[in-house]
Amino acid sequence: MTFEKSILCIGAGYVGGPTMAMIAFKCPQYKVTVVDINPDRIAQWNSDDLPIYEPGLDEIVKARRGVNLFFSTDVEKGIQECEIIFVSVNTPTKNFGAGAGMAADLQYWDKTARQIRECARSDKIIVEKSTLPVKTAQAMKRILTCEDNGVRFDVLSNPEFLAEGTAIRDLEDPDRVLIGSTQTPNGIRARDTLVEIYANWVPRDRIITSNIWSSELSKLVANAFLAQRISSINSISALCEKADADIQEVAHAVGTDSRVGNRFLNASIGFGGSCFKKDILNLVYLCRYYDLKEVADYWEGVIRINDYQKERFILKMLDALFNTLADKKICLFGFAFKADTGDTRESPAIFVANRLLEERARVVITDPKALENAMMDMEGVPGDISYEEDPYAACDGCSAIAVMTEWRVFAALDYERIYRSMAKPAFVFDGRNILDHQRLFEMGFNVFPIGKPGLTHF
Ligand SMILES: NC(=O)c1ccc[n+]([C@@H]2O[C@H](COP(=O)([O-])OP(=O)(O)OC[C@H]3O[C@@H](n4cnc5c(N)ncnc54)[C@H](O)[C@@H]3O)[C@@H](O)[C@H]2O)c1
Repeated sequence: MTFEKSILCIGAGYVGGPTMAMIAFKCPQYKVTVVDINPDRIAQWNSDDLPIYEPGLDEIVKARRGVNLFFSTDVEKGIQECEIIFVSVNTPTKNFGAGAGMAADLQYWDKTARQIRECARSDKIIVEKSTLPVKTAQAMKRILTCEDNGVRFDVLSNPEFLAEGTAIRDLEDPDRVLIGSTQTPNGIRARDTLVEIYANWVPRDRIITSNIWSSELSKLVANAFLAQRISSINSISALCEKADADIQEVAHAVGTDSRVGNRFLNASIGFGGSCFKKDILNLVYLCRYYDLKEVADYWEGVIRINDYQKERFILKMLDALFNTLADKKICLFGFAFKADTGDTRESPAIFVANRLLEERARVVITDPKALENAMMDMEGVPGDISYEEDPYAACDGCSAIAVMTEWRVFAALDYERIYRSMAKPAFVFDGRNILDHQRLFEMGFNVFPIGKPGLTHF
């Protein structure tokens, strides 16, 4: 079969896999290939057990795989055969040298650029899908064009706004698609080629085009704004607990103002995930680089409040459990950084588990999709830690339950049965405010929500 276009994506992760599956699903006339240097990941994409859990992903991968969607480790062949190359490699926070702990680690990005230059035999459009510091496209263009091999490269910025857990819905019906390009005739032509791909299923008025630096920066700013809302409501949750106010009532009253809006106002143990912290640090680093100290300090505050919220949660547990957690069995309900994903990167549960083990508690972890990742995260950490698929078995003999992830299954459990199996006095620390606190209190639990006074029997 001949295809209208051949599209490649380098990096078969949480972004590359689902975004390319959606393009293949919506555009049967294109051939879409996803490559990765990690052979295990590619083998999983080619198996019945995909490397990531995302509602709706299995169905679209199974519908298109082997038809117009292919997963491979042959990066070189992919570069040679395709005219449009998305780059979706990881860009974690740098943990060495200048900018350690702040700047983006661009080594995977840089290596990919060099590989594209070495393998390309015909003109290519390179699409930045990874989240990158502003002006990275310029660096990429310089790497690609430093040797004249007669090949033309146009670099576009097309940041991904999907949220894990709702990735398929977000990709199918996005709020917007953003495409940044240089304003030269070649840049505009490349941009229009990418617009045409998305226009197969995204309404034109939701495909925004901009200059390339605005596009790169918008992704960092979008994540900073989202995380800022979480830190804002979490900071007020601390005040509510002191002032006998109820954070859910406050959030409702504030969020019904249409200028504020009611989404992303759930107080919780804090945000996690691979992006928010990394992208804010990246923004802060950029501001410091450009000598904008006040701006950098302002955004850094979002991360400080997030750390404060997690530490506050542990101190509250310690205080409620009579200032010692040693030898007490504590069950973590959830380890994923949010519901409907198995991803545990930067999950607040990692922090909580580590702190509980430092206090010499015995930690039991249960999660419907993230136990494998939890085991990897906690590997080598000293202390008494176990993993249990069945939440009822996980709670057996525990002094406390700490809700880390807002999985719906946790709200639907039989808490009378759980209460009977726990050590007394029994405690619940609801880090996501998903349980019926009054009912649990009436059953005999001592209940500590976020942003409201605790309900205790003492
Ligand atoms: N995860 C999200 O929700 C999300 C959302 C929007 C944007 N992003 C951004 O998208 C990018 C990718 O994120 P992710 O979560 O998919 O990361 P990931 O770690 O899940 O996947 C990245 C993949 O790239 C592969 N890779 C690295 N170097 C390579 C190379 N030289 N050649 C081929 N493959 C290579 C890795 O093996 C890995 O499988 C990051 O910049 C991230 O900030 C992520």
